[in-house]
Amino acid sequence: MESWRQVFDAIYHGGDRSGRSDDFSGWLSSADRHAISVEDMGEWRDMTAHSIRELRPRRILEIGAGVGLVMAAVAPTCDSYWATDVSATAIDLLKTRADNGGYGHKVSTRVRPAHVIDGLPSGYFDTIVLNSVIQYFPSAEYLTKVLMSLSELAADGARIFVGDIRNRRLLGHMWSGIAATAVQPGSSIPDLRDDVTAKVAVEAELCLDPEYFDCLRGVILDVSEVNVELKRGRLRNEMTAYRYDVTLTKGLRPQRRPPQIRALSWGTDVQSLDDVRAHLHRNAPEPVHVLGVPNSRLAFDQHARTGLLESQNAEAFHNWMAALDETSVDPNDFRQMAAEIGCRVWTRWTPYSDNGTFDTAFNYDDGGACWPAPSMACAEPIGSHANTPFDAVRAASWEKELKAHLKKTFQGLPMSVDIEIVHM
Ligand SMILES: C[S@@+](CC[C@H](N)C(=O)[O-])C[C@H]1O[C@@H](n2cnc3c(N)ncnc32)[C@H](O)[C@@H]1O
Repeated sequence: MESWRQVFDAIYHGGDRSGRSDDFSGWLSSADRHAISVEDMGEWRDMTAHSIRELRPRRILEIGAGVGLVMAAVAPTCDSYWATDVSATAIDLLKTRADNGGYGHKVSTRVRPAHVIDGLPSGYFDTIVLNSVIQYFPSAEYLTKVLMSLSELAADGARIFVGDIRNRRLLGHMWSGIAATAVQPGSSIPDLRDDVTAKVAVEAELCLDPEYFDCLRGVILDVSEVNVELKRGRLRNEMTAYRYDVTLTKGLRPQRRPPQIRALSWGTDVQSLDDVRAHLHRNAPEPVHVLGVPNSRLAFDQHARTGLLESQNAEAFHNWMAALDETSVDPNDFRQMAAEIGCRVWTRWTPYSDNGTFDTAFNYDDGGACWPAPSMACAEPIGSHANTPFDAVRAASWEKELKAHLKKTFQGLPMSVDIEIVHM
């Protein structure tokens, strides 16, 4: 945690200090570590703010608030906004931003890590936001403890919005897509496959299966609803392809039994957007679920993943990539369709699916998505739905210790030691 604090302190220290709304210092693409474009980040910020504003927040707590990108878009219409962050530099900049924006009187700040909640009012907040922060948490256990303590600060019926979560199930897709763009005639496909495996193994950020959040229901007993939502946005980038948002509702809402909703399977009941549109027109205002839709945001990376796993050489890989099937759907197309038709829409990852397909719910009233409870029980420990973030500093110190130990043990023997840590 300390190393992330230092990273963010350094980023914010060197960043723009004027509080510009398009200052996205530190947001880098995984592919090339270059800054993500202002256009992509601007859409990301606007969509995130939109999702939070839909919760109609009045009393907000934001954990890991950074320099206040979310706050600037949400605080002006709230009664009070509490912001915490482990970086003192972030909180200084956030306060300046709030004062300059004329809503500083509503904002209270604390410099502290997420798990420290002393002095924050209990049962008070109607909305708690952790946006683009949990990937810097050290483990799923830490996240679970943080969510448990935050639920004490939440009023009954409050929402906890966990945004910009990295999908663990799709890490291999992301790195395969990146590797595919580097394949040249003569490239070794087995080497690229190994590179992808290594990249996934040394992922330093916490990445979670969407099912982690469903399983929270059994761990934090006052979570009554879990809504997983794919990122909104029309632009294609790492965030819209691989991240998602989750809204948890704190209990004591009357537990409605979800009604039986007709479910259409993609590929059998419906084959295209036109089929779905026609169904909605024919059956309005009946709600419907469309399940297992192939996701065009991931089509190239998904195809590359299979190609890397199955091709023997670069030529076979190129032939495979030339046969990319373009019939998949962008989740945003369903949003547009719902806007045209005048109904509401939700999109989530298909539970337990490893190929990035998604489900969509259409509903004409305020009943919500009404997803059926996940069919598979949460029998595994909740932590099995997360990676173990690779800690490069710890790995380097182990390597040093191990080398010293081997040197001492085999003293006097002619040998050299070469250690590669592949997994921790
Ligand atoms: C990518 S920024 C996101 C900032 C803000 N939430 C937003 O959406 O613009 C991540 C922030 O999380 C903070 N952070 C990282 N680990 C944290 C922890 N364990 N507790 C509290 N804040 C943390 C960092 O200092 C940084 O400001």
